[in-house]
Amino acid sequence: MVTGAKDLTPIELNRLHPVIGTEVRGFSIADPGDGDRIDEIKRAWLEHPVLVFREQPICDTDQIRFARHFGELEIHPSLAHQASGHPEIYRVSNVDEAGNILPDKSNEWLYLNLTWLWHSDSTFREIPSKGSILHGIEILKNGGDTLFANMQAAYEHLDDQTKARLEGLTVIHSHDHIISLSSELSRRQDQGEYTELPPVSHPLARAHPETGQRSLFLSPHTMVAIEQLPDPEGRALLDRLIEHATQNRFVYRHRWREHDVIMWDNRCTMHMVTPFDNQAQRRIMHRTTIVGDRAPIPASGMT
Ligand code: OGA
Ligand code: MN
Repeated sequence: MVTGAKDLTPIELNRLHPVIGTEVRGFSIADPGDGDRIDEIKRAWLEHPVLVFREQPICDTDQIRFARHFGELEIHPSLAHQASGHPEIYRVSNVDEAGNILPDKSNEWLYLNLTWLWHSDSTFREIPSKGSILHGIEILKNGGDTLFANMQAAYEHLDDQTKARLEGLTVIHSHDHIISLSSELSRRQDQGEYTELPPVSHPLARAHPETGQRSLFLSPHTMVAIEQLPDPEGRALLDRLIEHATQNRFVYRHRWREHDVIMWDNRCTMHMVTPFDNQAQRRIMHRTTIVGDRAPIPASGMT
């Protein structure tokens, strides 16, 4: 049932960090109300690229319905992590669907374990994801926080010389690179089943397609090399930018509570999970991923 607008409480925004992370109050994902309410969330999201909704005991269908207001949904290339009833749900979980903790050395866990590294979602696609929505179903008492970095703020704080240096530079991103980052997984014959994706090229500095704001486009997960610079020069530049972009002043740390839902803009943020004991406790999150509207726009293409 859709609630009439007159019954709804006003949506309130509350910043959790000076540059990233904003709590949304007075909004129910399961029962959002009319299109105006969704438009309000869309507007808030453009200004606040990480929105946190508390106490949202939603089911997968509610999550999918809500996510579809923002675009089509991606199907994740890792087949083992798709929810059986809903391929649009990517299971970010150290537990299988039967409730058993994934063995430490299983392909499924080794792959998921790479979310402990900084990344942005779906950068291995020609058109990377617009945004992701993550529902915390079973959360941990210790560890397993999610960190979010604001890549617009990181870009703005670069010196002019570095900004000029980034103009025209492009980076090769590849899904295979994710697997190569696990020494264990990369050695295996059987690395799990994935939809095949060829490497793609993206600008190192990009402009947001809706606001025009410039940001660094980093995703250490998938970044193979800068096309115009030989290694080690290219690698050194990427490493310096990653270090710059992940300083505390640009990063919000989310300590999960049960049924938190976070919605982030992949076009101007990065995220990572802080380490936790994956054999002692269950951590179950369900993600929907919104398809991007267009390939990343180089920062220099925006005037
Ligand atoms: C993701 C991811 C974050 C988390 O869902 O895209 O990287 O907190 N995980 O598990
Ligand atoms: Mn992710």
